Amino acid sequence: MAASIDIGASPEGVQSLALKRANRHGLIAGATGTGKTVTLQVLAEQFAAAGVNVFAADIKGDLSGIAVPGEPTPAWATARAEEIGMPITPGAAAVTFWDVYGELGHPIRTTVWEMGPVLMSRILDSTPAQEGALTIAFRLADDWSKEGKAEGALLDLKDLRAILNYVAENGERSASNTGW
Ligand SMILES: Nc1ncnc2c1ncn2[C@@H]1O[C@H](COP(=O)(O)OP(=O)(O)OP(=O)(O)O)[C@@H](O)[C@H]1O
Ligand SMILES: [Mg+2]
Repeated sequence: MAASIDIGASPEGVQSLALKRANRHGLIAGATGTGKTVTLQVLAEQFAAAGVNVFAADIKGDLSGIAVPGEPTPAWATARAEEIGMPITPGAAAVTFWDVYGELGHPIRTTVWEMGPVLMSRILDSTPAQEGALTIAFRLADDWSKEGKAEGALLDLKDLRAILNYVAENGERSASNTGW
């Protein structure tokens, strides 16, 4: 087994992470477009290649692409790879998808609440306005749960539909109450 994985390279050299140090928490931070997602993809691929099981909660669907080899590499990327001495060899990582529908992947049982508004919006292919309504519904469910109300439990789609109906019916009243 390799002692380290390569995360990237620059003119200063290859940047690697010692596997024995990889059992710590990590944070990938940076402005938009600086390579956070690509770094995460590379980490997942390299861990998998080194025989480490990787479980990724891929809420935004950023990582699924590692299951297929990359498109033909653009010439500039090949040139850059040569420049920093890191050849590009497109490959597919072994990926098992967990699927909340149980249709296209390994079935996983969960509740609407556990999925949260972001993943739920993605599954429902929501518009930004609908995602906003879902976020409000989840917030309301949280408030209700804290107050001990049974309606706050979002177990299945029936519960979600009920709370969304409530939000739709009472939206105007709450809006005037909160001074929106
Ligand atoms: N290590 C790298 N080497 C060369 N190019 C890279 C590297 N990492 C990222 N890039 C380039 O930068 C682009 C943006 O990277 P990425 O999508 O990872 O950024 P991000 O930080 O996740 O952005 P956002 O905040 O918008 O999600 C990639 O599409 C790729 O072209
Ligand atoms: Mg990103």
